[in-house]
Amino acid sequence: MEDTSILAAFNNIYVAIFTLFCFKLFIKICLALLTQFYIVQGNRKEAARIAEEIYGITPGSWADRSPLHEAAFHGRLFSLKTLIAQGFNLNITTIDRVSPLHEACLGGHVACAKVLLENGANVNSVTVEGITPLYNACCSGSAACVNVLLEYGAHSQPECQLPSPVHEATKRGHRECMEILLANGVNIDHEVPHLGTPLYLACTCQKTDCVKKLLELGANVDLGRLQDTPLHAAARKTSTKIVDLLIDYGADVKCRNVEGKRPVELAAPNSMVERALLQREGPAALTQLCRLCIRKHLGRSRLHKVSRLELPGRLKEFLLYRIC
Ligand SMILES: *[C@@H]1O[C@H](CO)[C@@H](O)[C@H](O)[C@H]1NC(C)=O
Repeated sequence: MEDTSILAAFNNIYVAIFTLFCFKLFIKICLALLTQFYIVQGNRKEAARIAEEIYGITPGSWADRSPLHEAAFHGRLFSLKTLIAQGFNLNITTIDRVSPLHEACLGGHVACAKVLLENGANVNSVTVEGITPLYNACCSGSAACVNVLLEYGAHSQPECQLPSPVHEATKRGHRECMEILLANGVNIDHEVPHLGTPLYLACTCQKTDCVKKLLELGANVDLGRLQDTPLHAAARKTSTKIVDLLIDYGADVKCRNVEGKRPVELAAPNSMVERALLQREGPAALTQLCRLCIRKHLGRSRLHKVSRLELPGRLKEFLLYRIC
């Protein structure tokens, strides 16, 4: 008897919770519709005010986006074209200065980005946070968007205070975007305060593909963040592959950082990384030293010419790190 009454009580609680949930959902849908209605009516200020009150969001983050922003973000090409044909201003920005082109790139929608650019959108517009459309394309990892933006004259490396697209691509392991930027005049050793060089960042974020590519392209293996080298960054993490790559490309295992620490002293005790670093403490093989010396003399700008040298094939492969 008692059991059934407890069960009934439980049932009632669940029913009550469920009812409350449904009611909240209903309210939210109504408000969303209302906001949408105001946006469509062009009264974005009112929409922003409602959204601010209901959701507690700061003005400018979402609610003052135009239909053009919406269409671009979701990759709705047809809506976008229709809105443009209706004469919407392409360069319209939110209070945070986010443009529809920013949104298209963040969503990785190359067709939308292209339509916006073809119709004269500002390719180098900057948000209040210093974000460019190119930065957003690197964030989403859309190599196609990066290419289109560069084609329309995007600055591959913005002024030093602004967030750097190449660092964003590297941090997220978007190797292809990173390569396109480097091929378009970005300095491979560009050091950004707090983040360091792209190589340093790739080591910190353990993006092996990016580390490998940067080294192949001739990034300076010793430049990191201030006195911390990429090998210091790799030593703190877990990838022995990255440690090996850096040392193969001539990283100095004895280099001390600003605290006077060598990379091996930063590795977790008894870890694989520590072992890898200890194994490589002695002098490098003569072949290895020769390879580094030849590459150094060629210089970064002529590394791609190695394959045209009058040398035996195996030697060329060796110089290009295709064999070890
Ligand atoms: C958008 O901004 C760019 C750069 O400021 C300008 O050249 C272009 O004419 C503007 N386009 C429209 C449609 O206002």
